[in-house]
Amino acid sequence: MDKRAIGVFDSGLGGLTAVRRLHALMPQENIIYFGDTARVPYGVKSVATIEHFTQQIADFLLQQQVKVLIIACNTMAAVASQVVKEKAGAIPVLDVIDAGARAAVVESRSRAIGVIGTPTTVNSNAYARRMHGLDSGVRVYSQACPLFVPLVEEGWLEHEVTRLTAQEYLKPVLAENVDTLVLGCTHYPLLRPIIQNVMGKGVKLIDSGAECARDISVLLNYFEINRSREVEDKTEEYYTTASVLGFKEIAEQWLGEEVAVQHVDLDKELEND
Ligand code: DGL
Repeated sequence: MDKRAIGVFDSGLGGLTAVRRLHALMPQENIIYFGDTARVPYGVKSVATIEHFTQQIADFLLQQQVKVLIIACNTMAAVASQVVKEKAGAIPVLDVIDAGARAAVVESRSRAIGVIGTPTTVNSNAYARRMHGLDSGVRVYSQACPLFVPLVEEGWLEHEVTRLTAQEYLKPVLAENVDTLVLGCTHYPLLRPIIQNVMGKGVKLIDSGAECARDISVLLNYFEINRSREVEDKTEEYYTTASVLGFKEIAEQWLGEEVAVQHVDLDKELEND
């Protein structure tokens, strides 16, 4: 029994889709979530900038004595997972790309797999590299969908504009006859109905955040660092770099429960150590 929290972080609110799965699988675990809402989106930023921001967040969460770190943001996982692992030392680090890549390779029968993500994630080729590490014979077709993040943040989950945008982005993916498509961005599971509709029922969609949550539950059990279901003093902390109110409103809507949110200024916080 290990009471320390699971540290989850993302460039903004999107990583809450992974937290939702953690709640379903491991309701007893304490969670510290960090969303860098003041600096989102990361998906269009340079690798050096993303690495710098990611290190700051990892430092902050490691200071809170978390027992495991989850990189819920595909963009950070694509270009900065190594720097997090170096900082974390003995603390295990899991990320959505490892989890999503593994699930896709296991799931695909035709071995033709599609990946959609932010421009940085797609340009990094991280999904394809990790899939080829597992099965050198898979064919991976990647497509950047930069407009999906702002459409989700606008709340246009079922809007006609979103449907047309999805049709446009997914046209070349459809032409590749993939049987499995990785939703390689935190925001995309919220567009699942539209994406499934465009791709057709025969294509299996992989939610990397959900796969990562499953991996965490296996890891905690394996190392026996899970928290007993009997204990009741569960705590959750949510940190944002921007407005507490804005974060709280969306987080409560997505998670279906009340959350306590605190503002943090990373530059000041880390300077004081
Ligand atoms: N969290 C990012 C991801 O999963 C999407 C939002 C952003 O661009 O920062 O790639």
